[in-house]
Amino acid sequence: MRRKIVVGNWKMNGSLASNEALLKALAEKIPQTTPVDIVVCPPYPFLFQTQSYLKNSPIRWGAQNVAKFESGAFTGEVSVSMLNEFGASYVIIGHSERSTAYCESDENIATKFMMVKKAGMTPILCVGETLIEREAGIMEKVVSKQLDTIIKMYGEEIFDESVIAYEPVWAIGTDLAASPEQAQAMHQFIREKLSSNNKVAKSLKIIYGGSVNPQNALQLFSMPDVDGGLVGRASLNASDFESICHSAEI
Ligand code: 13P
Repeated sequence: MRRKIVVGNWKMNGSLASNEALLKALAEKIPQTTPVDIVVCPPYPFLFQTQSYLKNSPIRWGAQNVAKFESGAFTGEVSVSMLNEFGASYVIIGHSERSTAYCESDENIATKFMMVKKAGMTPILCVGETLIEREAGIMEKVVSKQLDTIIKMYGEEIFDESVIAYEPVWAIGTDLAASPEQAQAMHQFIREKLSSNNKVAKSLKIIYGGSVNPQNALQLFSMPDVDGGLVGRASLNASDFESICHSAEI
């Protein structure tokens, strides 16, 4: 049985003051022994603050992106070793808000995935189709292609102990979450695609993202191939996030 994981993606939200309130509330609400892996991903400047408040809690933290290079003249970038210094153990890679706004290629995403693994952290790879692609019935083809670049460059084994987040673009920020059946169908497709390596297929956590909230989390997380969630807006509210984490205790 795979342990479920709930990740809060704070995106470009928060301030020192609002984070302090949120982090304190989370540290208080989440019990020391929780059956679920819980992670929050604040913007880079708040990693130190997050580490300070969460270091004695079971909640882990991560970043929302990382550079594909180790160090050097890359203005504005942040490296895996820098994230490591702030205790980050997860990195979200290839979120659609980045790949569309900053034209991130599948090759870039694949390189970042490898860098995160090499640094001993866990990548959370985002995949998912747009509404037009779903309406055209090519969603599996689209997701398959997003995975193929990584497989081609590094082999299927790189997915061992990794997290894939299925985030249909049409469900992000829209209050139109995928149905549990739609999520299950894609998660099953992804697991089957990676099933030539039995260990990878069994250990790989595939989480759902896109308008997850306290009302729909339990139904989504009850599906056999849905191993948790990547939560945007609802992760900014301590009670909502706690409730979603609670829904994963199944
Ligand atoms: P929302 O939960 O706000 O729809 O965002 C989902 C998301 O993009 C998480 O990475």
